[in-house]
Amino acid sequence: MSFVQSSQEGSILTLTLNRPEALNALNAQVLADIDRALDAVDLASVRCVLFTGAGEKAFAAGADIAAMADMTPEEAAAFSRRGNAVFRRIETLPCPTIAAVNGYALGGGCELAMACDIRLCAENAVFGQPEVTLGITPGFGGTQRLMRLVGMGRAKELIYSARNVKAPEALSMGLVNGVYPAEELLPAAKKLAERIARNAPLAVRACKAAMSEGVDLPMDEAIDAEVRAFSGCFDTQDQKRGMQAFLNKQKNIEFQNN
Ligand code: CAA
Repeated sequence: MSFVQSSQEGSILTLTLNRPEALNALNAQVLADIDRALDAVDLASVRCVLFTGAGEKAFAAGADIAAMADMTPEEAAAFSRRGNAVFRRIETLPCPTIAAVNGYALGGGCELAMACDIRLCAENAVFGQPEVTLGITPGFGGTQRLMRLVGMGRAKELIYSARNVKAPEALSMGLVNGVYPAEELLPAAKKLAERIARNAPLAVRACKAAMSEGVDLPMDEAIDAEVRAFSGCFDTQDQKRGMQAFLNKQKNIEFQNN
């Protein structure tokens, strides 16, 4: 039995954390199942990946506290490395990723959402890094990604205080891009994924690569990353299709992934 349900419709892959009895808490098997689900798809055929959680309460309520309770420092280091490796794999997937956050996204759940390119959430979503209430730090990237997303001051406040943030505040601080009634969240996430999927996929991937590469570089080097991304597109048929279609006043062209 897998704790991750995988379904591909056209070029959109949806991975659903499926351990609702534990609010989709992330244990070693859930992490392995995310990896396996990604291994099982032909990523060249995927133009957007959606992550969400099964059940109505949680995206993921964090790393599994029962599984961590008796860990030694060495075991904790291995667990943190493992979670970070899986989330880094998600962050560096070549195509865009969207987290559809349908409830609690605490600890590792917030960290999973932050490893995605875009976060949309339901009105009942709650974000937070409650680790210091458990005597630990965030372990799957929270100390690093939260400050990059919402700024150092806000990230420090949230991590030191372990204060939870509801959907409207998450929206106002830029942690999420949109808030929807629960039943409209997945349709909205799919609509965004479909919109992304209609665009030239190699160009979209090149945009992601340029932004990911450039974000931590000095501007002159970052601009080089953009020049490489931009010029690389001129080696593709999709660039020719896209520009000829514009010049011929042709609408709704289909890009071909080449
Ligand atoms: N780990 C393990 N089990 C968890 C869990 C977690 N993170 N979160 C919830 N569960 C389990 C509960 O133990 C409970 O199981 P039982 O029915 O067997 O008792 C079940 O899920 C339902 O949870 P609750 O009864 O607690 O549900 P609630 O609605 O009363 O509360 C909640 C919801 C506020 C999210 C609460 O479950 C909670 O506070 N969970 C823990 C949140 C947390 O601290 N997350 C951070 C974990 S540490 C981490 O993630 C470190 C890291 O960065 C790697």
